[in-house]
Amino acid sequence: MAFPFLRSVCALLLFALLCHSAAAQHEPHDQGCVHMPIVHSTNVGYFSSRRGVQLQLANRSDVAYYAQLSLGTPPQPVYVQLDTGSFELWVNPDCNAVSGADAAFCERAGQYDASRSSTVNPLGTTRTLRYGIGSANITYVTDTITLAGSTTALEAVQFGVATSSEDAFSGILGIGYGKGIATRYSNFVDQLSEQNATRVKAYTIALGSKDAQEGVIVFGGIDRSKFAGTLARLPIIPAESSPDLVPRFWIDMQSISITPPGGRARVYDGSTMPVFLDSGSTMTLLPPNLTNTIASDFGVQNVDPDGFIRIDCAFATMNGTLDFAFDGLTVKVPYKELIREVPSNPPACFLGITPSERFALLGDTFMRSAYIVFDLESDSVWMTQAANCGSTPAALNNVRDLSAVVGACGSTNSAVTGTSGTVIPGTGTQNGAAQSRPISATGGAASTSGTATSAQDRSQRTASRASSSRLEPRGIVWSLVAVMALRILSRV
Ligand SMILES: *[C@@H]1O[C@H](CO)[C@@H](O)[C@H](O)[C@H]1NC(C)=O
Ligand SMILES: *[C@@H]1O[C@H](CO)[C@@H](O)[C@H](O)[C@H]1NC(C)=O
Ligand SMILES: *[C@@H]1O[C@H](CO)[C@@H](O)[C@H](O)[C@H]1NC(C)=O
Ligand SMILES: *[C@@H]1O[C@H](CO)[C@@H](O)[C@H](O)[C@H]1NC(C)=O
Ligand SMILES: *[C@@H]1O[C@H](CO)[C@@H](O)[C@H](O)[C@H]1NC(C)=O
Repeated sequence: MAFPFLRSVCALLLFALLCHSAAAQHEPHDQGCVHMPIVHSTNVGYFSSRRGVQLQLANRSDVAYYAQLSLGTPPQPVYVQLDTGSFELWVNPDCNAVSGADAAFCERAGQYDASRSSTVNPLGTTRTLRYGIGSANITYVTDTITLAGSTTALEAVQFGVATSSEDAFSGILGIGYGKGIATRYSNFVDQLSEQNATRVKAYTIALGSKDAQEGVIVFGGIDRSKFAGTLARLPIIPAESSPDLVPRFWIDMQSISITPPGGRARVYDGSTMPVFLDSGSTMTLLPPNLTNTIASDFGVQNVDPDGFIRIDCAFATMNGTLDFAFDGLTVKVPYKELIREVPSNPPACFLGITPSERFALLGDTFMRSAYIVFDLESDSVWMTQAANCGSTPAALNNVRDLSAVVGACGSTNSAVTGTSGTVIPGTGTQNGAAQSRPISATGGAASTSGTATSAQDRSQRTASRASSSRLEPRGIVWSLVAVMALRILSRV
């Protein structure tokens, strides 16, 4: 769902293709991916024509993640917001329907001119798409789509061209479920697998930490250099059993707890609930009571009606974490990643959580700290704590292989615990240093080191299997790198 909070939005992202399939198709024994430079948006050398955008964005107040697609023949580059919470791709927002700076961003994000494409096929059907913020009337076309830098093109992909829109300053690339589930036609993710650009209908997202310079999404593959240890498998709750009956990436969250710096971990009451993973939302949305309780731990007693919880920027330099527990893993979100720092003078800081009666979702303020595989074949989310030790995108042959995959970043801080039992952080058995680690609820006071060691052992056992045969570096992997405006901002 598009929830780019604080409407004066924007962020630029850039992305680059890391691997592509053309070489592999022609040469089955090709061992490598085609690597392109990953370019940070501050790299004026690469993006001089967009320099104005970056400078203009440098004092904007919101964060979102974008991908560049090339539409039509010859290709027309357009930036679209990556959104795991919606299902359809559309472009051409009405830039006159947003205010000044948003309009400037909107125009620079690019527009698609169907009349200049030799491969467009207007379908004539229309629809209104509504998001958490923003809406658009679209008319459908099919046309060729390439990811920037790739020679591989998807042909006749259906998408929407807006005829009018409100509160939208870029198009949206919805990468939720497609044909037969959320759409009547094959959406972008469906087309990647139907046209054999990917071998599996799955993709992985590592947004990257605020300091990491870039994030990466790999369609049809994974990047082992973005996590440690193994991935925990969490079933996606079927739409008919989900809170809003919509086929989103709903998963069961066991608890949220807080580990203040040097303090004891504390589980929040009322934090067990289904949540969905939504890269299209800048903020994490939680029920008001829970949000208020969390806010009080950040020194805020009365949450503003606008829902933005302004906190002392000193929290962003503290070592505390907010810990999100699921069956078999805990993702620890450092205060710094949770908090939105706006470099105004003086700087303003906001808790990355907003109260909502309507949705419980984990947005970018959570997703930056997680490595997540969205597996649309076995209806699972595979997740662990994010790390960063390089860039090694690789294709997956089969989603079953995900259970054997081991991250390349070392295993000492694996967030994934044994398969026997759940993990609930901090029920108060520990002292200082150990408190930032999950403990086993079933084992009562299972020692921190014991948990880490068993995860490490499992990692060692599975490592050779994963690298010998399951994962082939050749193959068809498309990837994008998204860059957050906030990273640029935070240098100001
Ligand atoms: C951004 O900076 C420009 C130029 O310094 C200024 O005119 C504009 O008002 C600023 N915008 C915001 C949202 O702070
Ligand atoms: C969509 O079209 C309808 C009918 O023309 C119009 O009333 C509505 O405002 C439009 N919505 C958007 C988001 O532009
Ligand atoms: C994709 O691969 C499958 C299986 O090899 C084949 O049947 C199908 O025709 C291919 N589709 C395209 C568009 O190449
Ligand atoms: C929220 O908190 C209020 C006041 O503490 C309480 O009366 C209410 O029942 C709570 N609502 C939920 C949904 O827990
Ligand atoms: C946070 O932890 C790191 C490493 O453990 C330490 O170097 C740093 O001083 C700590 N920062 C604060 C503010 O306690």
